[in-house]
Amino acid sequence: MKAERSIYVCEECGEASIQWLGRCPACGSFGTMREEKKETPKGGASGTRAEPLQMRRIGEEPTRLTVGIGELDRVLGGGAVPGSLVLLGGEPGIGKSTLLLQAACSLTRQGAKVLLVSGEESAAQIGSRARRTGTLSPELFLLCETDLEVVTDTARGLAPQVLVVDSIQAMRSPDVDSSPGGVNQMRECVFRLQTLAKEIGAVAFLVGHVTKEGALAGPRLVEHMVDCVLYFEGERFDSLRILRAVKNRFGSVSELGIFEMTDGGLREVEDPSHLFLDAREEPVPGTAAVVIMEGRRPLVVEVQSLVVPSRLPAPKRVSSGMDHRRLAINVAVLERKARVKLADRDVYVGICGGLKVTEPALDLGVCMAIASSRLDKTLPPETIFLGEVSLTGEVRPVSRVEERVKEAARLGFRSLVISDKTRARVLPPGIDPVRVRDVRQALACFGVA
Ligand code: TYD
Ligand code: MG
Repeated sequence: MKAERSIYVCEECGEASIQWLGRCPACGSFGTMREEKKETPKGGASGTRAEPLQMRRIGEEPTRLTVGIGELDRVLGGGAVPGSLVLLGGEPGIGKSTLLLQAACSLTRQGAKVLLVSGEESAAQIGSRARRTGTLSPELFLLCETDLEVVTDTARGLAPQVLVVDSIQAMRSPDVDSSPGGVNQMRECVFRLQTLAKEIGAVAFLVGHVTKEGALAGPRLVEHMVDCVLYFEGERFDSLRILRAVKNRFGSVSELGIFEMTDGGLREVEDPSHLFLDAREEPVPGTAAVVIMEGRRPLVVEVQSLVVPSRLPAPKRVSSGMDHRRLAINVAVLERKARVKLADRDVYVGICGGLKVTEPALDLGVCMAIASSRLDKTLPPETIFLGEVSLTGEVRPVSRVEERVKEAARLGFRSLVISDKTRARVLPPGIDPVRVRDVRQALACFGVA
């Protein structure tokens, strides 16, 4: 016996309620609550029992499928795992279809059977994109379809090793009577594709669109269901694209893939450090170089700051590419502990190249750049600033100094400012360290106090 009762689910965010509401209490959208029948099984004992598996009987790990695009393989954790679902999220126009087309072609060329399902583009459009990016591969299977039933049946018949579905929002299952892109549709489609991927042992890449605000709940909801979630980010008008894992059951989430969007498609950037440094002959006030870690990869980035007189009672502290609270703390420490006068100034800080940095190792560079702009004095070129700044103004050592300094040395940096508590043996030869106790001392060393 089954009892039926209704619940109401928000199409935007998946919030459930037992009564209909005009406005979703979770995401605030209007008119998005839809009725859903919920079947609750009645009674306890049923005759179903499964055989649990003992761990020693679990087989070996399946071999990963390497895509052949190094930056993508790195983010996947060394290739894709058969039977798994990978969600590629990102704003429209960022290059998701291009990346997966290039991946599909690369896999096909290695002899893998790949089925690319597009619910958004025609075969002719995909063909012209493939020609444009020089990835045309005759063996790739294409299917332009939005009906999930057709997609799964075709995939079962073809049994590809890799299935690409572009996009999950465009797919529609005839069993669910809500519009494509809605929460129920998407949940159903992902569930079906998951079953399919496990059944045929294929890797399924699903594209999911996210709006500027990241508001679209679709992919957010789907995130819980898939094995790996990748986000493709970048400024629309800037060619740099960053692929980031936010969830990965088979690898680390701190890895980062860097690409450049060119006329001929996405190009891997293997030596990205130069992208985050502004090339110039003479140093200018308000800039400081820092080495950050993105996953296991050190990257040299330039912090830029502009300090201008403010007419506002509460002067502005504006940051791009770093946390604004961290900026507020750095400004407060500079004022209080190093006597840099910023109370009547607007402070702008940005990270060159459009990266988003969350590491505290950025602090010292930020403080130096602000002080340098405030006093309109340049910092010496070829110098790296590495340190976390505490609320007491102390400069603390950062993690993985050795790797960071090596990367800086490789790019021609000759001098380094670090905490006096950094152990000496971690520093490679050829680079000259200036050890400082606190921010004040660091500023004094460079005449910006
Ligand atoms: P696309 O992969 O269609 O984005 P998404 O699937 O995420 O919506 O990429 C579209 C953008 O990429 C479009 O603005 C044009 C640009 N682009 C290039 O600059 N060069 C290229 O070779 C290709 C194929 C696209
Ligand atoms: Mg697309």
